[in-house]
Amino acid sequence: MTTNIAHFNGQLLPLDKITISPLDRGFIFGDGVYEVIPVYEGAMLRGREHFERLQRSMDEIRLTNPHTTDEWLGLVEELLKHHPGNQSVYIQVTRGVPPKRDHVIPKGVQPTVFMMVQPLASPSRDAIENGVACITARDFRWEKCNIKSTSLLGNVLARQLSADVGATETILLREGMLTEASASNVFVVRDGVVVAPPRDNLILLGITYDLLVRLAAEGALKLEIRAIPEAELRSADEIWLSSSTKEVLAVTTLDGKPVGSGKPGPLFKRMHALFQEHKAQVLHRGKVAA
Ligand code: PDD
Repeated sequence: MTTNIAHFNGQLLPLDKITISPLDRGFIFGDGVYEVIPVYEGAMLRGREHFERLQRSMDEIRLTNPHTTDEWLGLVEELLKHHPGNQSVYIQVTRGVPPKRDHVIPKGVQPTVFMMVQPLASPSRDAIENGVACITARDFRWEKCNIKSTSLLGNVLARQLSADVGATETILLREGMLTEASASNVFVVRDGVVVAPPRDNLILLGITYDLLVRLAAEGALKLEIRAIPEAELRSADEIWLSSSTKEVLAVTTLDGKPVGSGKPGPLFKRMHALFQEHKAQVLHRGKVAA
C-alpha cells in the first residue's frame, strides 16, 4: 500500500506517523473548525470559497487564522502532489495545546493544523438515477450551526438515526421548519420552483448550496430562499440533498413514503446536468475554480 501523506503543523508526514497531544483542545473540547473540499483530477472545486468559510468559522470561535487563503491553497496544492485523481481534502484547525484543561480560551497558544486526503466517494450511478431514502428527525443541535465546528456530536447522533434504518440522510426540523440534514443541505421543489432554507445560524451555509443557487440563476431555474414549513417538505414534488461529497442528489423516499413521483424529478435532472457541466469546466481549467 502506498503511504498516505498528510499535513501536520507545516510538515508533510505519513498519516500513521502523526501524533497529537491529549491536551489538544480539539481532543478535549472539540474546540476547532474544519472544511472538506472535493478535488477532481487535481482541481479543487471552489477551494477559495471553502477557505473563506473557514475564515468565517474561525472568526466566530475567536481563533486567529494561521494562514491566508492563498497560503492555504498553496498548502493543499503541495499535499495534492501526493494524491492524484478524485479526492476529498479534510482540513482541521484546533485551538492548539494549552498547558492544562480549562474551558477559558488560552492566550498565546498556536493552533493545530491538520490536513488529510481521502478518495472522493462520489454518489453511485444508482443513487443518481433512482435517488436515495431519507428520514426526518427533530433538529436537537445548538444554535450556531453556521460554524463548521469539529464538535459534531449532534450531527453524528442525527446521522446514525438514518444509518440505523439504511437511509442516506436524516433531514432535520426545528420548531416545525426545515433546517438541513445531518451532513448536507436540503432543497425542495414545489410547483416548478426550487426553494432553499434561509442562510441563517440554523444551517451550515454549504459551498454546494451557494453553487446550486448560482447554477439555478444561470440555468434560468426559479429559486426562492425562504423558511420551509414541515408541511411543504412533506408535500414537495422533489427534495434534493447537496454537499461537497454528495454533489446534488434526489431524495425519493422520506420516512418510507415516496417523494413526488418516487423518481428523481425533472428539475433535479436539470440541476444535476448543470452541476456536471460546471465540474467539467473546472476540470478543464485544471486549477482552482473561480
Ligand atoms: N458536510 N450541512 C452540514 C451539517 C454539513 O456537514 C455539510 C457538509 C453541508 C454541506 O456543505 P458543503 O456543500 O460546503 O459541503 C451542510 C461535509 C461534507 C462533511 O462534514 O463531511
